Amino acid sequence: MVWTSHPVSKIAGTIVAPGDKSCSHRALILGGLAEGTSEISGLLEGEDVLNTARVMSALGAHLEQTAPGDWRVTGVGSSGLTSPQTDLDFGNSGTGSRLMMGVIAGYEVSARLVGDASLSSRPMGRVIDPLEAMGARFEHAGDKTLPLNMHGKSPLAPLDYTPPHASAQVKSCILLAGLNAEGTTIVRENRITRDHSERMLRGFGVDVGVRPDGDGAIVSIRGGQMLSARETRVPGDPSSAAFLATTAMISQHGGALVEGVMSNATRDGFFRAAAMMGTQVGAEEIGDAAGERLINMSFESADLTGCAIPEELVPSMIDEFPILAVLAAFAEGETLVSGAEELRVKESDRIAATINMLRVNGVEVEERKDGFIVEGCSGAVPGGGLVETHHDHRIAMSALVMGTAAQKAVSIDDASMIATSYPAFLHDMQTLGADIQRA
Ligand code: S3P
Repeated sequence: MVWTSHPVSKIAGTIVAPGDKSCSHRALILGGLAEGTSEISGLLEGEDVLNTARVMSALGAHLEQTAPGDWRVTGVGSSGLTSPQTDLDFGNSGTGSRLMMGVIAGYEVSARLVGDASLSSRPMGRVIDPLEAMGARFEHAGDKTLPLNMHGKSPLAPLDYTPPHASAQVKSCILLAGLNAEGTTIVRENRITRDHSERMLRGFGVDVGVRPDGDGAIVSIRGGQMLSARETRVPGDPSSAAFLATTAMISQHGGALVEGVMSNATRDGFFRAAAMMGTQVGAEEIGDAAGERLINMSFESADLTGCAIPEELVPSMIDEFPILAVLAAFAEGETLVSGAEELRVKESDRIAATINMLRVNGVEVEERKDGFIVEGCSGAVPGGGLVETHHDHRIAMSALVMGTAAQKAVSIDDASMIATSYPAFLHDMQTLGADIQRA
């Protein structure tokens, strides 16, 4: 179904940031493993997270929604996981599937893991290889993708591993497997990636070692530690806030206030890049949640200038490149993205999908193997295009944001995938004054 975002002259309003997707998965997983009952609030009830909830239930944890965003989770504790009676369906979620492979690996459990067409084409070798080295077994069609069968082992052998890609999913998968290994498991990161697993594991009473190491970190976990239930409030999602921020920054007039956003240096690369491009981002500290700082963020219409995005920012803005490309399209001059080849294996080939999104809307962009160069239109983005989303929620949202300030409306071929990460997106955009309609 086609959706269209029409240009508007003013953006204004206040939005409470939706729960962070990464933290929501982790809260359900850790609550489902812990001894006792955890009360979780502010959970993002997007499709990806709901699939993780169903998977944890199928493996023996007890999860119930007590109010919108509030969940009561009774973990399996020392009884451990049990083999599921049904396939474990992760839908579109790379995070859910990769983290849960690490969890399942450490129990005497056999399970079949499946996902949608996009997830079934994404590489799983990055988690299968280290988990096999720890003792888990996998059966797949030879291509290390879903669908696959896996057989866990208790206890696993510990691992000392340097992931070839900067990936929080791979790090978290190995740490979760390491909980049930005999000895200490170590992950050596060449570049620091989001550290929510480390923070939240500590909140559930697990001792996690983190030592800086050059541009990266050495993270370690001792096997055999039991998690204890705890109350967890999920902080607001900076990746979702980036769409609202960009809507304000590219608007002719106005601004937006986004409340309760998680402030974490492993996630704030987009806001640092936006500041380099000439925006003023206001931040007011308001407290903390789940071991993370919370801030209210304010954004305003800005005169933007293109820049070269420093490669060291890439891991901390890995999900924000489609929306950064929109910001770059409205800027004056070139914006260069490099060192971001991981974007080729996200929910879509995000380099190709981002380039297509810009080109069909009259923006010049050059493709690179590991990124792209956007030729900014100094505020005058032609628009008028129909964007193929390739079932990628972040392409869909980015294109609709672009439509709010382009010269002509921007359409997308499908809005349904937005529900995987930001079910209230259309509502929140309309609150800010966007004019988004089903065509
Ligand atoms: C995530 C890690 C990132 C990110 C994804 C969420 C996580 O993936 O793109 O949306 O919650 O750990 P990679 O680990 O593949 O970079």
